[in-house]
Amino acid sequence: MLRTELLSKRYENGFMAVRQMSIHVRKGDVYGFLGPNGAGKTTTIRMMTGLVEPTSGSIWVDGVNISGRQTEIRQMIGVLPESHGFYRWMTGREYLLFFASMYGLPRSLAGSRADELLERVGLKDKRHSPVKQYSRGMKQRLGIAKTMIHQPKLMILDEPTLGLDPQGQRDIQQLIRELNEDTNVTVFITSHLLKEIDEICNRIAIVKNGMLLEEGTVTDLKANYSRDGEIPSLEEVFLKLTASDRG
Ligand SMILES: Nc1ncnc2c1ncn2[C@@H]1O[C@H](COP(=O)(O)OP(=O)(O)OP(=O)(O)O)[C@@H](O)[C@H]1O
Ligand SMILES: [Mg+2]
Repeated sequence: MLRTELLSKRYENGFMAVRQMSIHVRKGDVYGFLGPNGAGKTTTIRMMTGLVEPTSGSIWVDGVNISGRQTEIRQMIGVLPESHGFYRWMTGREYLLFFASMYGLPRSLAGSRADELLERVGLKDKRHSPVKQYSRGMKQRLGIAKTMIHQPKLMILDEPTLGLDPQGQRDIQQLIRELNEDTNVTVFITSHLLKEIDEICNRIAIVKNGMLLEEGTVTDLKANYSRDGEIPSLEEVFLKLTASDRG
């Protein structure tokens, strides 16, 4: 569903944020993209969503090379960026309708789909309130509804639970799981909450300094790093791989 081949990004100041990264997200995966701060996760996502041009390498979404195919690709992907603004005066429902029209959905369909999604993310009662009255957790849930408005095949979520309380984190995790199970949407997610990743993802990649260190199923990865028959937590695997030369 999503594949990168030898993907690299050198920013204008010469910094290599992503180096020869080749990853493979399968249809139906909930794929966790892990790495310490500054590892290059958001840069990779920006390339996948067409906001940043790769310096070299390629990206395919469902078999289509995205280079020069932005309009087509945008219909296939729903994105929740790392930081996203809202038009604060809009109501939750208006916000979804706004994006529906950007994706070219007919008005009648947009309305029913917005209502369906608002119900699913638990914002039905708040749908006519302006977004500026929403809590952070509510805004994140609205953001996820937005990524689904045009029924994409692939959702890309950059730290969707950042800054949420434990209940808010649970809500988003459950929502992601349900969307994946009910609609078979493929999910590509970054998070620093390794317990969360362990619970919702079937496959993961671990990156550092723009490079891929490991990719595979959570189960295999833990098994590969087990010692004396003791299976480590994902956090232990992550720290072992990434914490070496810090400071
Ligand atoms: N526009 C830019 N110009 C130069 N360097 C940049 C630019 N944007 C990001 N970087 C650098 O690229 C590296 C990767 O940044 P990126 O935001 O992709 O990391 P990340 O893995 O998403 O980190 P975090 O977990 O903190 O969100 C960092 O060292 C960052 O300083
Ligand atoms: Mg980031």
